[in-house]
Amino acid sequence: MATQERKILCVGLVCLDIINVVDCFPVEDTDTRCLSQRWQRGGNASNSCTVLALLGTPCAFMGSLAPGRVADFITDDFQKRGIDICNVAWQSVGITPCACCIVNSSSGSRTVVLSDMNLPDVTIEDFKKVDLSQFKLIHWEGRNASEQIGMIQRVVQYNATVPAECRITISVEIEKPRQDLFSLFGHGDVVFVSKDVAGHLGYKSAPEAVKKLYSLVKPGAYLICAWAEKGADAWGPNGAVHSDAFPPENLVDTLGAGDTFNAAVLFSLSTGKCIQEALTFGCQIAGKKCGILGYDGIV
Ligand code: FRU
Repeated sequence: MATQERKILCVGLVCLDIINVVDCFPVEDTDTRCLSQRWQRGGNASNSCTVLALLGTPCAFMGSLAPGRVADFITDDFQKRGIDICNVAWQSVGITPCACCIVNSSSGSRTVVLSDMNLPDVTIEDFKKVDLSQFKLIHWEGRNASEQIGMIQRVVQYNATVPAECRITISVEIEKPRQDLFSLFGHGDVVFVSKDVAGHLGYKSAPEAVKKLYSLVKPGAYLICAWAEKGADAWGPNGAVHSDAFPPENLVDTLGAGDTFNAAVLFSLSTGKCIQEALTFGCQIAGKKCGILGYDGIV
């Protein structure tokens, strides 16, 4: 398959986000009205697919769903946006995750309570069914890390058998400060570490985090950390890279801003841009996203 036709695959969570927009964060044990409420397809990997689709690149999502009304809403939305869901793992047990989100349009803050109870995650067995020749880049949102490392190993083996131009770039995101996810550091060509994880590990800034954590990634990889209004930093084979943030006039909705950043960086790298260009583009698109409700209008 020709390089330009190959897609980006994102593996991770899809859930329903029930989003309440308020202009004042509610006080506990009060009864208030919101400004607006909407259902939105959510989950990091799923949101990144939304952004990739809006950026105009062919993409696919792989994650778990349980048949039912929530899954119908989610699959309709994937289809509307032209995101390939052939690799979704349909589960016969468990409930599709759902998050109640409060977006404060005065500050842009997002507060999420996620119910992610009992739906089995995608396994190595599921991933064996993926036709790897369709993809130029596969991104894993860190979840069931040991299984995900098995999936990555399949891609590494595949890459060893194909010509250089057919190889798949491997990307991972370590967003939650959970010890089991840290094993993913050594497995990506591109590794995103969140401000939250960096903070938990004791780092005070993105440049400090990427520099100090770089010893954990594989040789030649890029380690990337976005830090809200401070922009984003990366460390790679040629050292440090930084982009300032591009804040919107008004911060309106930061839900999924990190997923937007990741998608825009990956899109940029997948079109052959250098890490500096990719980081700057990631900050631009994420900044734009924070100035609007949802994703439509980021490009
Ligand atoms: C945003 C998001 C939401 C979801 C939550 C899950 O990054 O993916 O769409 O509700 O995080 O943690």
